[in-house]
Amino acid sequence: MKFFSTETYKNRRNVLKKAVGKGQILFLGNNEAPMNYTDNTFRFRQDSTFLYYFGINMPGLSALIDIDNDHEIIFGHEFSMDDIIWIGPHERLASLALKVGVEKTVSPSDISKYISKDTLHFLPQYRFDNQIFISELLNQKTHEIKPSLELIKAVVAQRSIKTPEEIIEMALAVNITREMHIAAMKATATGKMEYEVVGKILETMHAHNAELSYPVIFSVNGQTLHNHYHGNIMLAGQLAINDSGCETEMGYAGDITRSMPVSGKFTQKQKDIYETVLEMEVSSIETLKPNLKYRDVHLLANKILLTNLKSLGLVTGNVEDMLIEGVGGLFMPHGLGHMIGLDVHDMEGLGENYVGYRDGLERSSQLGLKSLRLAKELESGHVITVEPGCYFIPELIGKYKSEDKFKEFVNYSKLEEYLDFGGVRIEDNVLITESGYEILGEAIPKTVEEVEEIMR
Ligand code: GLY
Ligand code: MN
Ligand code: MN
Repeated sequence: MKFFSTETYKNRRNVLKKAVGKGQILFLGNNEAPMNYTDNTFRFRQDSTFLYYFGINMPGLSALIDIDNDHEIIFGHEFSMDDIIWIGPHERLASLALKVGVEKTVSPSDISKYISKDTLHFLPQYRFDNQIFISELLNQKTHEIKPSLELIKAVVAQRSIKTPEEIIEMALAVNITREMHIAAMKATATGKMEYEVVGKILETMHAHNAELSYPVIFSVNGQTLHNHYHGNIMLAGQLAINDSGCETEMGYAGDITRSMPVSGKFTQKQKDIYETVLEMEVSSIETLKPNLKYRDVHLLANKILLTNLKSLGLVTGNVEDMLIEGVGGLFMPHGLGHMIGLDVHDMEGLGENYVGYRDGLERSSQLGLKSLRLAKELESGHVITVEPGCYFIPELIGKYKSEDKFKEFVNYSKLEEYLDFGGVRIEDNVLITESGYEILGEAIPKTVEEVEEIMR
């Protein structure tokens, strides 16, 4: 188990204690999650907020910060002889707790002795077992339990700003992810199955002691945004999208997308769309700096998209009008990006709007903008994804056409020529700095020439 220094965890908790001010804060770690029967579990993933403040990557733990009485406790079982027989000897919980600066460990069965229900802060729970745990602890129905808004806001404020030691982990995640992407580009070829490429992605990742930060999206049907089906044969003339990333041993995520021609060479038609998305990505990144609203960057990317699609004859009319109407959503029905950190969509478990929006900045209901997870002003220390795309989704195009939606802007007859095109997405992970931005990790092939070169 890899930790930051003891001081890091102590400092993080001290900052939180100051922000919340009084009462108690309860953190629930994750438990093992059964796959098909109790003892056959999914890969264990610790809760990210638990990792952030208490660092111990083990199931069955919870922790209390009692601000009023100035003490901290980790609740968990010490290893039994049965545990040792089945999973081997482990460092004692009490000793692990000391590594993160916590001197007291207590059996979980005694937790209620330490809890003061009236002053307890806790976060929203995304796992049912933890929802039931809180519900029983507080003697309230699961739908009645009220997480602490004050705590959510304090945790989001703190976790949103990445420290230099976190940036090092995140750059490591991107660099391993980079290897996964290069392996995928090399493995992609006409006549191969998609799952053969996915096999290479996973092999490369495991060889670096990393795990997936989300299920691999690799498909020649890239118009499906989160396509997890890998059973297609790849044909010449198709594009493949690879949206995959790993998390490091400490849990920090990478989230990278590249798109490539199966044959290793882009056709002119593919190049036109690819270079549009590349321009959206590069130009968006180049504007990044503190105080810029990320919603405005999303709109800039849409403007480039619509301008280029207009040159290609796919849309017509005034680009500003199209932006207001949300025509870009037909081609990019997702947001430009999101925060990334210990979670690939960082802190989404605490509530997307607490992370990406603020008072006075409401989420739009337009296709595309409604999926923008990060809209508010950027700050130095944020790490975000920039991931524009352009997709031709036959079902969506067919629906809009039959409804005459955007009919003054969209050239539906020209669009017919793109129904088997698939999609293109390009995604990088970017740190916002005092003076602008820094793309994390070493460069990953991205221009037409670089992608074709690596596939040669
Ligand atoms: N990998 C999912 C996303 O890009 O948000
Ligand atoms: Mn992604
Ligand atoms: Mn992403």
